Amino acid sequence: MTHSGNRSVRRRDLLTGAAGLGVLGMFAPPLVFAAHAATARGLGEIAATKGILFGASLAVHELDRDHGERYQELYIRDARILTSELEFKLSTLRPKQDVLDFHGADRLIGFAAAHAMPVRAHTLIWDDDVPDWIHRLAPAGISDLLDRHIEAVMNRYAGKIRYWDVVNEPIGPWDGKPGNLRAGPFYRALGEAYIARAFKAARAAAPSDILVLNEAQCETADENGETFRTSLLTLLRRLKDERVPIDAIGFQSHLKLAARYDLPAFTAFLHEVAKLGFEIHITELDVNDSKFPGNIAARDRAVAQMYRAYLDAVLKVEAVKVVETWQLSDATSWMNDRATQARMAIRSDPRPLPYDAHFQRKPAWDAIAEAFEAAPAR
Ligand code: XIL
Repeated sequence: MTHSGNRSVRRRDLLTGAAGLGVLGMFAPPLVFAAHAATARGLGEIAATKGILFGASLAVHELDRDHGERYQELYIRDARILTSELEFKLSTLRPKQDVLDFHGADRLIGFAAAHAMPVRAHTLIWDDDVPDWIHRLAPAGISDLLDRHIEAVMNRYAGKIRYWDVVNEPIGPWDGKPGNLRAGPFYRALGEAYIARAFKAARAAAPSDILVLNEAQCETADENGETFRTSLLTLLRRLKDERVPIDAIGFQSHLKLAARYDLPAFTAFLHEVAKLGFEIHITELDVNDSKFPGNIAARDRAVAQMYRAYLDAVLKVEAVKVVETWQLSDATSWMNDRATQARMAIRSDPRPLPYDAHFQRKPAWDAIAEAFEAAPAR
């Protein structure tokens, strides 16, 4: 398809971008991003022409900030699915042991319904973002909570949610447990069985919703990436043999310019996941530009190139049906949080998303659009 707008890219810009990637041992040839500035179509509409559902995570408190209007415009224009960034996490829904607070979740569902967008509820069972009181529960209390929580939340939103991230990040090699499983509160109470139990409870509560197991860190070229891929595949084979009801596997895809990726290994692994019968979702895509040298233009080009190379590779896998970024604007990225910056050594002015902090399109937007245009239909 064709686009109006300025397609010219200065040769020096291309060379700098390519060299930047070379230094980091990154992907492929220089890519030219056409400016889609005059295009009225949103990313969701472009993705839909290939049978791909595009969207992003949203945090309802952003709607209340001064930029609320501009914030929601991005979603209305570009997103065809929303993920709750915080609203369905245990720390939000259960601030105290005897308090269920659905305020934020209700608001997010309302926003999505007003704009006819399906929702991914993120996430029912995860070791992070849990309230402190959970750590004081005995094993019986944890298994009871797991059952009750899944039933209560899924019943409340019956018919209003299409996708549920039922279990998030089950793999954690650093905990030294069998199967490289992460040893959070649910594992400590139930062992590996917490995963099957969560999915069975979810299927019982919502027989026709799409149940997702979501994981991180599977893409890199290092030993960690290899360990995550092998451990997750082994886990999925076990769960499949046990007939645990899982419909899709989500890959968070928080990428970094400073990391090296093995896209052939990652896509070969995605094919193996697909062979087991799972749909595949890219659930939290963004590109951390920390440690990348150069001015803003150089960083934006490198970020765009990483989006393009990653999406070009994964969209060749037909089982990939959903692509979502983690927020849409740099203004509201989780990388803008001071505590997160300190914990993860993130620069203070990160530019990880398709829109900048002033809600203007960046080259990453064009790169994503072009990756969808180049993708095979499914
Ligand atoms: C992050 C949110 O974006 C932050 O605002 C919050 O403080 C911590 O959680 N992987 C996940 C997401 O699955 O839930 C995380 O979201 C980002 C990493």
